[in-house]
Amino acid sequence: MTCLLALDQGTTSSRAMVFDTDGRVRGASQREFRQHYPQPGWVEHDAHEILTTQLDCARAAIAEAGVAPSDVVGLGIANQRETTIVWERATGRAIAPAIVWQDRRTAPDCDRLRAVGQAEAIRRSTGLELDAYFSATKLAWILREVPGARERARRGELAFGTVDAWLIWHLSGGALHATDAGNASRTMLYDIHRGQWDDDLLALFDIPRSMLPTVVDSIGVCGHAQRDVLGASIPIAGIGGDQQAATFGQACLAPGMAKQTYGTGCFLLMNTGERAVESANRLLTTIGWRQRGASTYALEGSIFVGGALVQWLRDELGLVRRSEDIEALAASVPDSAGVVLVPAFTGLGAPWWDAYARGTLLGLTRGTTRAHIARAALEAIALQTVDLVTAMDADGAGPLRELRVDGGAAANNLLMQMQADLLGVPVVRPEMLETTAFGAACLAALGVGVWADEATVASHWREAARFQPRMSRDRREAVIARWHRGVERARDWAQE
Ligand code: G3P
Repeated sequence: MTCLLALDQGTTSSRAMVFDTDGRVRGASQREFRQHYPQPGWVEHDAHEILTTQLDCARAAIAEAGVAPSDVVGLGIANQRETTIVWERATGRAIAPAIVWQDRRTAPDCDRLRAVGQAEAIRRSTGLELDAYFSATKLAWILREVPGARERARRGELAFGTVDAWLIWHLSGGALHATDAGNASRTMLYDIHRGQWDDDLLALFDIPRSMLPTVVDSIGVCGHAQRDVLGASIPIAGIGGDQQAATFGQACLAPGMAKQTYGTGCFLLMNTGERAVESANRLLTTIGWRQRGASTYALEGSIFVGGALVQWLRDELGLVRRSEDIEALAASVPDSAGVVLVPAFTGLGAPWWDAYARGTLLGLTRGTTRAHIARAALEAIALQTVDLVTAMDADGAGPLRELRVDGGAAANNLLMQMQADLLGVPVVRPEMLETTAFGAACLAALGVGVWADEATVASHWREAARFQPRMSRDRREAVIARWHRGVERARDWAQE
């Protein structure tokens, strides 16, 4: 049987899935790995644990599928984005823990760059908001703080990569130091318009060019996983950041189509085609994927706290025992009775970009119950999404006709109905909820040519549920206006 292997290297777990060429899942495996929080605001991973868990589950998924490694005709990688790894070329050993995308240690570095007026130049070239979220300041931090790192980097001894490049290096036995254009576009070092590393930014962050991976297409064979790693020589044929891969797996292949992934955070990406839409509303302009040198662009809105809000209600407040119980609890009341919850635990992402905003619970009365708070929490997830879509429309990328959804919380029917009501457009859930892994497999399928074109990807996407908006326009506007009053109160809190 001819198969495709998808690696889905996420923030909290490594996963692998084997698909047949009809897009059906044949085998799957998942391994969680440790999160390290050495200081407040810091988040680290052990790069070698990322690697070993990922290779273990790749082998386990192949075994579960009951196929031989040589039946795998193509490998696709989807990865947590921005997370920064530096390793020795000679040994493949990481010289420091991976600094995870959530890590805020370089926020003061970003403040300093903003104060000297660098934000605009960075946005113009990279499409990104100057923020600690992206790789550039994390890489600069490693070069500055790890003893000897800068000298070794200058001598060409060190390599930098996001997680895709780290995996590709080790899969290929050190033969290949490569990243795809989509992942490169998350480093804050890549000129997304010219399609090359930006020498001015490399100088600004004092990063030697020799550390950087070669930027390759997201679709196409760039090298091979070695026989001694996965049991056969397998073409590495698809690469995408996980949100990019999910957009592809959701078949958002035409301009104006968008998906929202409701995970720990939420990431809304809208395909804008060949056009890199500059945002006037602080969204990110990013590369979705690149094929035969041609980039498909996207507008992205990143929400830092989505499903994590439900985890917080469960683990810290004990409001529910299991995350899925939130739906019944919230459904037990008709509305939040005026309660607004702004989950700005780590500041606010797009479109506010306020690192100093903090979580805020407003509108409590003596009659407020846990159910009202649960309902306000689900509304908060939906309303953050509304703010992103409003910004995309204002940027001229819309209008959005429907929102495709995935991620854990997309299973919550009440949340999906609220989302449709508050957006005023249908919300559509596909049959295949593993859109990230599926997207990686799709990239690889096109990359090796077992699927001819994007139309084949679209033909494998099937709708499972559709939520139609039912709320009146007046009601919707009132709820959104109240939410914005809440957001205003949450902003700048940690600076006072
Ligand atoms: O930008 C960060 C994003 O890629 C992380 O996604 O699914 O690993 O939380 P996830």
